[in-house]
Amino acid sequence: MAGDGGARVALVTGGAQGLGAAIARRLHSDGMAVVVADLNLDGARASAAGLGDLALGVEVDVTSDDSVRRLADEVARAFGRLDVLVNNAGIISRTPSADLDTAAWLRELDVNLGGAMRCSRASFELLRSGDYPAIINMASVGATLGMPLRLAYSSAKSGVLGLTRTLAAEWGAFGIRVNALAPGYIDTDMMRSGFDLGVLDEQALLARTPLHRLGSADEVAAAASFLASKDASFVTGIVLKVDGGVTIDGDFRPPGARP
Ligand SMILES: NC(=O)c1ccc[n+]([C@@H]2O[C@H](COP(=O)([O-])OP(=O)(O)OC[C@H]3O[C@@H](n4cnc5c(N)ncnc54)[C@H](O)[C@@H]3O)[C@@H](O)[C@H]2O)c1
Repeated sequence: MAGDGGARVALVTGGAQGLGAAIARRLHSDGMAVVVADLNLDGARASAAGLGDLALGVEVDVTSDDSVRRLADEVARAFGRLDVLVNNAGIISRTPSADLDTAAWLRELDVNLGGAMRCSRASFELLRSGDYPAIINMASVGATLGMPLRLAYSSAKSGVLGLTRTLAAEWGAFGIRVNALAPGYIDTDMMRSGFDLGVLDEQALLARTPLHRLGSADEVAAAASFLASKDASFVTGIVLKVDGGVTIDGDFRPPGARP
């Protein structure tokens, strides 16, 4: 039970691959038991198996109330507690906004934003008796920048910031901290799909990024580790950007005039 000195328990949605898998690895190496939940059950199980003991891979569809409720029940059954929820599951599509299909728009909002709401709601009772409990929501540079062709994604990630602030304000009374991570361009399949489709130019991106490189999944996981930890015990309602500075860049000198 929470408070008994046992391992804290983390639930990471979308943990089969990419950032979620890296966060699951990092929280596990921080000493937590980790539930990896994903639409891709085989991937979730493989990701959990790679962690070793105190790890469980389960299936969830974050757009389904029933599926998310079953997930919370499974966490309770397996570990009897929950201390950290990472709402990481996400999808992205790229379409001219004038052609955006309503069903695709609703789906993208539902995975990225509705999923964070459902998982937070279903985890509330467990979290409120956790040890310095924390929710970490995955936002994006898309919550700051206007990103052509990604109307649903940017709108959903902007909504994630509203969800974060509101839950932080409401659930602070229960000791639950709620923060968002806003990764920039991180070297994962999701990001590389933008290069492959030609909607992102790698050189232009690197030139616009003060640190002049892509981020790694482990760098995002390190930020998640901090927000999940007792070191962040007075941090709530914030957006922690892990973006190499891409959202603050004001350097419009010609490339040759830069150091
Ligand atoms: N990669 C980046 O550069 C980047 C930047 C900013 C934000 N993000 C955000 O970080 C998160 C992870 O990104 P990633 O690059 O690792 O993506 P990814 O596509 O590699 O992984 C996403 C995971 O979510 C799962 N998923 C999708 N729909 C689901 C659903 N309905 N229910 C449960 N699981 C579902 C997928 O199966 C997959 O395992 C996303 O929220 C994404 O928007 C990523």
